[in-house]
Amino acid sequence: MSFYLAAKSIAIRPTRWMGTLSPLVRNMQTSASSAMASAAEPAATDITKKEPNYKTFEIYRWNPDQPTEKPILKKYKVDLNACGPMVLDALIKIKNEQDSTLTFRRSCREGICGSCAMNIEGGNTLACISKINKDVSKSVKIYPLPHMNIVKDLVPDLTHFYKQYKSIEPYLKQKTPPTDGKENLQSIEDRKKLDGLYECILCACCSTSCPSYWWNQEEYLGPAVLMQSYRWMIDSRDQFGPERREKLQNKMALYRCHTIMNCSKTCPKGLQPGAAIAKIKLLMATE
Ligand code: SF4
Ligand code: SF4
Ligand code: FES
Repeated sequence: MSFYLAAKSIAIRPTRWMGTLSPLVRNMQTSASSAMASAAEPAATDITKKEPNYKTFEIYRWNPDQPTEKPILKKYKVDLNACGPMVLDALIKIKNEQDSTLTFRRSCREGICGSCAMNIEGGNTLACISKINKDVSKSVKIYPLPHMNIVKDLVPDLTHFYKQYKSIEPYLKQKTPPTDGKENLQSIEDRKKLDGLYECILCACCSTSCPSYWWNQEEYLGPAVLMQSYRWMIDSRDQFGPERREKLQNKMALYRCHTIMNCSKTCPKGLQPGAAIAKIKLLMATE
């Protein structure tokens, strides 16, 4: 399994080599499709008009079938005049036309599903909404999300991340649910309190940009999961806020956050998980 460290603020480099393989291979892109081809290519009329304009993409490659081989950055040249505008378009084009073994996750192509989260030019973001830098004198470096175990190439193992999400019970919990068959009503003001929280797509860009999460991933829940915990704490229909906070009352789950704010800086949806964590701390300090 490959393990490496990267962040917006520090140099990106493979740091550690772990010898075993993950059995987990989920939802990875394994075959080209016509839908992918059309997503990656502009209209044919545009292609015929322009001279090729090649840009180099340097992409992290690691194959679990060759566990003793170290990860490499492999170079691919892509004609920007025959490619869509986003980094995901270039990845799909490379996979379709140059190297079908290149492996990455993607689904919606609209910044909704969170599948295509990766580290592009030093920052964690979504490939489908990241525009390709048109300056062809510089290459684009693409790595998987930092400090995660790698399944293959750009695919991180998110098993632990999802387990942590499950642990906060991310759903409505009530001690006295309505018995008359009526809905759980919420005022417009109370609904507004969820804005900036419910939009999270669980892409893990924030958690994997957080130094505290890198070093204490087993116990620290990280910004994405903590923000969702806060989302349920302040939902006027939920009746388990105190119990949700009680579960965070230990040294590691919440208080490993040191307000470094990498998380809020990197969120591709413009959310503020660092601020949500600060609000949990405030609630816990004042009740
Ligand atoms: S808060 Fe933003 S970066 Fe973090 S998981 Fe949600 S959408 Fe992704
Ligand atoms: S604010 Fe907290 S959760 Fe966000 S990056 Fe900093 S330490 Fe991590
Ligand atoms: S493919 Fe769904 S967020 Fe990028």
